[in-house]
Amino acid sequence: MTLEAQTNSLGGGRTSISAYSEPWPVGVLERDLVLSSTVRMGVIGYGYWGPQIVRNFSGIEGCKVVAVADKSPEALRRVRQAHQGLEVSSDVNAILSSAAVDAVAVVTPVWTHFELAKAALENGKHVFVEKPFTSSAEQAEELIELAEKKNLLIMVDHTFLFTGAVTKIHQLIDEGALGDLYYYDSTRVNLGLFQHDVNVVWDLAPHDLSIMDHLIRQDPEAIVATGEKHFSGHEDVAYITVYFKQSVIAHINVNWLSPVKVRTTLIGGEKKMLLWNDLEADEKVKVYDKGVSVKSGESVRQLLVSYRSGDMWAPKLEPTEALKKEAGYFVECISKGAKPFNDGITGLRVVRMLEAADKSLKDRGRMVRL
Ligand SMILES: NC(=O)c1ccc[n+]([C@@H]2O[C@H](COP(=O)([O-])OP(=O)(O)OC[C@H]3O[C@@H](n4cnc5c(N)ncnc54)[C@H](O)[C@@H]3O)[C@@H](O)[C@H]2O)c1
Repeated sequence: MTLEAQTNSLGGGRTSISAYSEPWPVGVLERDLVLSSTVRMGVIGYGYWGPQIVRNFSGIEGCKVVAVADKSPEALRRVRQAHQGLEVSSDVNAILSSAAVDAVAVVTPVWTHFELAKAALENGKHVFVEKPFTSSAEQAEELIELAEKKNLLIMVDHTFLFTGAVTKIHQLIDEGALGDLYYYDSTRVNLGLFQHDVNVVWDLAPHDLSIMDHLIRQDPEAIVATGEKHFSGHEDVAYITVYFKQSVIAHINVNWLSPVKVRTTLIGGEKKMLLWNDLEADEKVKVYDKGVSVKSGESVRQLLVSYRSGDMWAPKLEPTEALKKEAGYFVECISKGAKPFNDGITGLRVVRMLEAADKSLKDRGRMVRL
């Protein structure tokens, strides 16, 4: 499919879900990977998230992290301390132009993603890039086109898609256990960390938007976002509403000013409803056999509402570390020449929603059609 055909389906009133990447087959990563050769990774950025990337990719069979670049001497000192034998450099070109690197992980602030990913692709490297994919949809489209032209792979790190919870919820929705979906409602709030370059929407909502996109698998029709800045700079509290066809609605609450950390998602369906509390040690996902049926009464205005309140059960979730699974999947996709489900197109869909949310936010909640 051409990029035009793929991206036309992102906001143009498409109801079918056919343009979405194939959902990740459950269990595919548990297979032993048989790789023809080792994927040599270079990692750019070793701040907060970079060490997680280096650690997880280093633990993958068929993959070797060979070099790390960061412009901060302090970051490079930390790399040397933690990983003896790794090549370190303050110059990203040591990775971007190295013949000893097959794939580059871009783990720097979002405003740098485009330039670094573009240079990596131009140098013939596969790209693993942090969320959010880029600062604009235009940049994302350019990278997708470049990767297609060069026959290279882009994977956007939407880590939560690889958690046991999201894998299980995806499976339940696929099997029809929840029935038709009514709503998706998530809260991701905590105190800080204030970012200097992006607002709370670009920092936290990519997680929720990517999970929502993965689970609902429909094109959103419109977005309304409200929020406020309490200090100079960027919005630190925001509420995003996403409208879909057939009365499906999503609401996302992101906040850097919360006294407590909350990570809950409620998904309401016609047959079952579920609560995912990511901070629970056990039983993170609880499925409730609760619901409502409404019938017309004798008069036109009369509605007969009956409530169903059945059992609750907590499905068993796979305990593997999400980023480790994702790293393994990246290596597997490269070795098999497969397109990942969390590819550039997925990243672009999230960036389009972030851009729309930003527009709405700046206009104090004006509805922005997608
Ligand atoms: N997937 C997740 O769950 C997750 C979690 C945290 C952060 N992230 C993402 O990871 C990315 C990095 O976030 P972070 O919290 O680690 O940021 P950070 O500021 O802690 O670290 C960024 C590092 O990149 C380096 N850097 C910046 N520009 C550079 C350049 N042009 N060349 C070389 N080095 C450069 C900085 O010196 C710093 O060490 C962001 O896109 C963020 O959204 C993802």
